[in-house]
Amino acid sequence: MNILSIESSCDETAVALVADGRRVLTDQIASQVPLHRIYGGVVPEIASRKHMEVIYALADQALLASGLARSQIDAVAVTYAPGLIGAVLVGVNFAKAAALALGKPLIPVHHIRGHIAANYLAYPDLTPPFLCLVVSGGHTMFVDVEDYTKMTILGATLDDAAGESFDKVARVLGMPYPGGAALDAAARSGDPSKYVLPRPKPGENPLDMSFSGLKTAALNLIHHAEQVGETLDVPSLCAAFSQAVSDILDTRVRLALTRTGRKKLAAAGGVAANSVIRAALTRTAEELGTDLYLPPLKLCGDNAAMIGAQGYYEFLAGNLADMTLNAYATRSILGERL
Ligand code: KG4
Ligand code: ZN
Repeated sequence: MNILSIESSCDETAVALVADGRRVLTDQIASQVPLHRIYGGVVPEIASRKHMEVIYALADQALLASGLARSQIDAVAVTYAPGLIGAVLVGVNFAKAAALALGKPLIPVHHIRGHIAANYLAYPDLTPPFLCLVVSGGHTMFVDVEDYTKMTILGATLDDAAGESFDKVARVLGMPYPGGAALDAAARSGDPSKYVLPRPKPGENPLDMSFSGLKTAALNLIHHAEQVGETLDVPSLCAAFSQAVSDILDTRVRLALTRTGRKKLAAAGGVAANSVIRAALTRTAEELGTDLYLPPLKLCGDNAAMIGAQGYYEFLAGNLADMTLNAYATRSILGERL
């Protein structure tokens, strides 16, 4: 089954064609990152306008690259939530028009479910159940993936997402948006023990997390150094910060694995590209005898192939939409309104 898939929830316009939820025929991404960089973050109006400008041509390009004829498209999948509302709307409206014109089913896909499904593309043998650490720019949570469309949230951040805190610290250090990858690169030559940063204590639910205290501690350290004229060891601060985020995630990964008894651990989302976190998960999985699934870096960030992968399983579960499908800025991974 060939699914035309669309993703436009933030600052990447993406169109892919995916066969049977597992095989990427083509995965086209038009990144807007350079456009937003001068503002230090995504400007929602510019994002929507740019999605509008490129989506049609990108879809044409994807179809050409896939080698398929229009008649070989069996369904259209699209990110319908969560994201910047104007940006998500562009993808949803394009997908509705495409589904109507082709006379094919329309499949609404939750963006975070898509991130999790990136693992199905990277690992064709991976099947649920498994535990998934979701770490993106807007979400940080542990998801027990019981089946392709049946999931439970075991714990989540109580404040900032991990990616948000990476981006904020990177921005204050003068790194270009989105700073997570630049901070990760800088950390490689640093000494993580040079600066002491806090690890917030678990709250009522030990699988919940908090990153705002850690972020504030790092920002205070940077501002204090500026005020007293001290030269900051930027690579070491980046290493200490990455280590702290990784420790917060890793202690809970261990707990979640022992609690659930799951023998497979996957990671998903842009922050899953972080080298310190990947190394920690690799060690933990080895120690606990757990199979580890880490998507390659290009499948960690936003893309449309992951939407096509999850779209296939949503289709099999009968989760289809009609022409009344709307876009939502917020919506739980379980499909509930927030
Ligand atoms: O999943 P994603 O592409 O978009 C959302 O759905 O939010 O995640 C983007 C986030 C950004 O915060 C970005 O800075 C972060 O992923 N990121 C990283 C790394 N690469 C991307 N954070 C830490 N280390 C990285 N190597
Ligand atoms: Zn994302």
